[in-house]
Amino acid sequence: MSDIVKTLTTFSQKFNQDLEKCFPAANGAENRVIEAMKYSVMNGGKRLRPYLLCECASLFGVPYETAFPAAASLEMLHSYSLIHDDLPAMDNDDLRRGKPTCHKQFDEATAILAGDGLLTYAFEYLSNALEIRPEIRLALTQLLSGAAGAFGGMVSGQTLDLYAVSAGNKVEDEKIIARLEEMKTGRLLRYACEAGAVLGKAPLEQRRILVSYSRKIGQAFQIADDILDREGDQQLVGKTLHKDDAQNKFTFVAYYGIEAARHKAKELVESAVAEIGAFGSQAENLQALAHYIVERKY
Ligand code: IPE
Ligand code: IPE
Ligand code: MG
Ligand code: MG
Ligand code: MG
Repeated sequence: MSDIVKTLTTFSQKFNQDLEKCFPAANGAENRVIEAMKYSVMNGGKRLRPYLLCECASLFGVPYETAFPAAASLEMLHSYSLIHDDLPAMDNDDLRRGKPTCHKQFDEATAILAGDGLLTYAFEYLSNALEIRPEIRLALTQLLSGAAGAFGGMVSGQTLDLYAVSAGNKVEDEKIIARLEEMKTGRLLRYACEAGAVLGKAPLEQRRILVSYSRKIGQAFQIADDILDREGDQQLVGKTLHKDDAQNKFTFVAYYGIEAARHKAKELVESAVAEIGAFGSQAENLQALAHYIVERKY
């Protein structure tokens, strides 16, 4: 196991224990939706976004305990996006994180509600977090809602993912794919890094470096996801594979082929690693994480 995988595993163990405590049981029939929310959050995600957030915050001396509510709310929101992404009306997936998707385990209505519940709870949890100063909570709420929403955020990216059509020429198509990926995947990864900077009241120049790093690893991350869809090991990936081609997804891999995609991802990672080097030895984990993002098998 590489050092960054060990670091990520240790982080995830602690983070999962703390995350579980965010979900008290409710009484009565409404407990069903909370069970579905917990099922989808506590089911073995890599916890990349929370890790990134806490690691970026730590660059500015912010302890894990202070960063945790921001990291937890981000993972809730990410898990909501996965539940809805898997719904029959969207990607129609049966398998997520190695287990039946939320609508398979429960039912479609419960899965829609569990997604709604996680999205709203993310903001409820973040806005109530007394560990974070009120003005920083507000700044994080603004950033997270923008990253997740329909005006250039994840919801716009998901819409493009479903409805984008080729412009008929390579230059424009490459722009469409880059925009699609930046919004559907990049924005939440960018938020993770930017939130760390906001929590740490980072100087503008350092925040700019983190944003630039996050945009590069965000694009590389989605390319890696698309490569895994083509040639991953389903047991390891924990999702049904070969779906992007079957559903005619507009991906870098589909457009340029696997070798060009691998090359592009490698270039992006190298550039991100060099850029984050501005933080010196403090950036070692973020550099290793950038490599892990494209080398991962799940
Ligand atoms: C999957 O994200 C969705 C994409 C943006 C490609 P992850 O690969 O981070 O999923 P989990 O959280 O580890 O399951
Ligand atoms: C999903 O992208 C991105 C989200 C916003 C959830 P994909 O549809 O490629 O993600 P997977 O492969 O189902 O995890
Ligand atoms: Mg999708
Ligand atoms: Mg999907
Ligand atoms: Mg995918």
